[in-house]
Amino acid sequence: MSDASSKTYPPSADMAANAHVSAEKYEEMYAASIADPEGFWRREAQRIDWIKPFSEVKDIDFTLGQVKINWFADGALNVSANCIDRHLDKRGDQTAIIWEPDNPDEGARHISYRELHDETCRMANILRDLGVAKGDRVVIYMPMIPEAAYAMLACARIGAIHSIVFAGFSPDALAARVNGCEAKVVVTADFAPRGGKATPLKANADKALAQCDASVQCLVVRRTGDDVAWDDSRDRDYNVLAKDAATSCDPVTMNAEDPLFILYTSGSTGQPKGVVHSSGGYLVYAAMTHEITFDYHDGDIYWCTADVGWVTGHSYIVYGPLANGATTLMFEGVPTYPDASRFWQVCEKHKVNQFYTAPTAIRALMGQGDHFVETCDLSSLKLLGTVGEPINPEAWNWYHEVVGKGNCPVVDTWWQTETGGHMMTPLPGAHAMKPGAAMKPFFGVQPLVLDPTSGAEIEGNPADGVLCIGESWPGQMRTIWGDHARFEKTYFSDYEGYYFTGDGCKRDGDGDYWITGRVDDVINVSGHRMGTAEVESALVAHDKVAEAAVVGYPHDIKGQGIYCYVTLMSGEEPSEELRKELRDWVRNEIGPIASPDLIQWAPGLPKTRSGKIMRRILRKIAEDDYGTLGDTSTLADPSVVDDLIGNRMNK
Ligand code: WTA
Repeated sequence: MSDASSKTYPPSADMAANAHVSAEKYEEMYAASIADPEGFWRREAQRIDWIKPFSEVKDIDFTLGQVKINWFADGALNVSANCIDRHLDKRGDQTAIIWEPDNPDEGARHISYRELHDETCRMANILRDLGVAKGDRVVIYMPMIPEAAYAMLACARIGAIHSIVFAGFSPDALAARVNGCEAKVVVTADFAPRGGKATPLKANADKALAQCDASVQCLVVRRTGDDVAWDDSRDRDYNVLAKDAATSCDPVTMNAEDPLFILYTSGSTGQPKGVVHSSGGYLVYAAMTHEITFDYHDGDIYWCTADVGWVTGHSYIVYGPLANGATTLMFEGVPTYPDASRFWQVCEKHKVNQFYTAPTAIRALMGQGDHFVETCDLSSLKLLGTVGEPINPEAWNWYHEVVGKGNCPVVDTWWQTETGGHMMTPLPGAHAMKPGAAMKPFFGVQPLVLDPTSGAEIEGNPADGVLCIGESWPGQMRTIWGDHARFEKTYFSDYEGYYFTGDGCKRDGDGDYWITGRVDDVINVSGHRMGTAEVESALVAHDKVAEAAVVGYPHDIKGQGIYCYVTLMSGEEPSEELRKELRDWVRNEIGPIASPDLIQWAPGLPKTRSGKIMRRILRKIAEDDYGTLGDTSTLADPSVVDDLIGNRMNK
């Protein structure tokens, strides 16, 4: 961790003069957003079109037992009309989506706003014909193809609530999410090409749907056209239906607080929870942050490399950019296929102006050598962004110097599935960036650093503690699908009256914020968020496993790796084959992103006398940090710790 004295990078003269938000404007707008949030958000909400104007700006309560979050509640709008129809007069022929396929030889596609309108309407009409009505849920399990965006916008158009499941998730994980929100339809594709391989999405969906209600229908987009199994009573061929579907479909009038989507995300306990986002507040916030953080100007080509299966893809590939009438690039592939210059070739080919990716990708590409970057013309780049995990200064510097040639600001955006949009980030025309710092709160965001033990706010600088947010912002999640009590308990019970982020945080001597990582049992593997409890419950579901404890450990490329301590059933012998079997087992249960990196056989786990596993100790061992094991006197059997240290995996 650097501090206030480390090197800073002030905005260039050009950025300072021409960006949407200068240093002075930031101060003025931030002060206004805190002093008069009602007035501030009433004005900002005008960036979207309302079918019926709202009268009340907000109605919020963060008190445990009565948490409610309402923004613009009596207003009405349609999100798809905001992302498409309202742009048609001015930019019907402008490219809305540039689609770049996994295999560069296949050729890119440019989809205009007019085409986006027609395709979205077709998809909306097909969904309607399948019986999907306002308020119904649709699960989307798709490759990164334009049809994924059509499906999202089609749901928004007819008032259905989408829940996207990342295509890397297993059939079991998909089934749990379909059942969790009682979806009527699953939209999927035959296969998902990625990095030269193809995931059999339809076959996965078949396995998942075998565990779901027989009434759930499956709409299949032909991506590769390869053969797939077909169940006539349930499966519908999108490409056939689309030929006859009408290219107009009236957008349904939605209340601002009607849910736009559910997105399952990992928590520190239990199974993933369905984060619910609203229509009005979410869209205002996604659009505003997209425009201001990335300093998006009309005509720019903007590329976010995330997948629509994660919140970043929702807010910053689809909703934010399209609400702003932007040209957004959608990439099907991976950074290293056909080779490690793929990202930079795509930037050159499409003259990308703003590029937004994850630190894990930057670290992986940095390790491949500079020549992959230097052989590409990156002169179109104006701004770089990162998201998903803390970025180490080496990776930041490489990104800034080698990719950005020292000319592009790097916006390190801290936010969460729960927050809907950016919460802290340097703004490119306003702030002197510090490598690794999330810097400043976005408008309306009131970060508080609290003492984790007493819960008291730490005032003044520097400060080091846990991060809470004091007041609501329009992009905030509204509830957990079907479980408002869990929502309150998860986010509002630890620190009374505040939203608790689950992240640790420092504020340096200048008052700038640095995110230090999760303080709960959530880990961040290659920018993918995972609950250690999910991996544990997958492991103990294996009949040879008696007990398992999972923690994160520092990993050069992934940020964090998955370290598993496994106690076998008595009579079972540890072996390399069993290690592989358990690894494959977890991949199968959850998906490849949850593959254990290291599995240590643990004859015993460190437990308190009351039987609680002391994860703090397991974390320290996995981190190779025994000097500070802390108090082990409460352990039922302190000798297990010596055994675990003696047999540690990543020596
Ligand atoms: C972490 C992704 C440091 C953080 C948008 C947070 C970050 C979790 C940053 C949310 C950043 C995200 N610097 N840490 N710029 N961005 N995180 O829900 O721990 O997948 O709580 O949302 O990622 O992950 P999620």
